[in-house]
Amino acid sequence: MLSDKIILIGFMGSGKSSVGKELSKRLGIKLLDSDDCIEKQKQKSINDIFRDEGEESFRAMESEFLKEMALSEEGFILSTGGGMPCFNDNAKMIKKTGVSVYLMASPDSILKRLKNDTSRPLLKEGNKLEKIKFLLSDREDYYKKAADIIIKTDGKSVEEITDEILGEIF
Ligand code: S3P
Repeated sequence: MLSDKIILIGFMGSGKSSVGKELSKRLGIKLLDSDDCIEKQKQKSINDIFRDEGEESFRAMESEFLKEMALSEEGFILSTGGGMPCFNDNAKMIKKTGVSVYLMASPDSILKRLKNDTSRPLLKEGNKLEKIKFLLSDREDYYKKAADIIIKTDGKSVEEITDEILGEIF
C-alpha cells in the first residue's frame, strides 16, 4: 500500500465524514475526525469553542491536533475540519503526513447538504449560499495546494467517490 494514512480535506458539507466511513470500512483502517477529537479533548462542542474561545484558539487546536497525527505510527483515515488546510502551516503538514484527497464540491451541492445545519459557527449568520461562495473562493487555493488527489464529487454517490479515491491511490 502506498500509504495507510489518508487525509480527506474539503469544504464543510463536501462529504468527508461519509466518504471517510466508507473508506474505513473498505480498507479496515480506523477513521478519525478532527472535530470529534477536538470536541472530546476539550469536552465542548465546536460551536461552544468558537463562542467561548474564538476562532483563533480553535485554529491553534486544529494545528496541534494535526501535529499529533503526523507523529502517529499507526495508519488512519482522517476527516478534517473544512478550514484546517487554510491556516498556519497545515497545508504543508497535511501533505507531509499522508495521501491527501480534496473532495471538491460546488456551492450549490454544499448548500443542499447544509441547508438545515446549525452546527457550523461560520455559516450561522447571513445568507448561507453567499457565505459558502465567499469562503470557498477564499479557500480553493489552499485545498488545491494541500491535495495529492482531487476528486470532483457533484452528482456522485459516496460509493462512487470512494471507488475513485481507491483507484487513484492503488
Ligand atoms: C470549519 C469546518 C467544520 C469545523 C468548524 C470550522 C471551517 O468542520 O471544523 O465548524 O472553517 O470550514 P466540517 O468541515 O467537518 O464541517
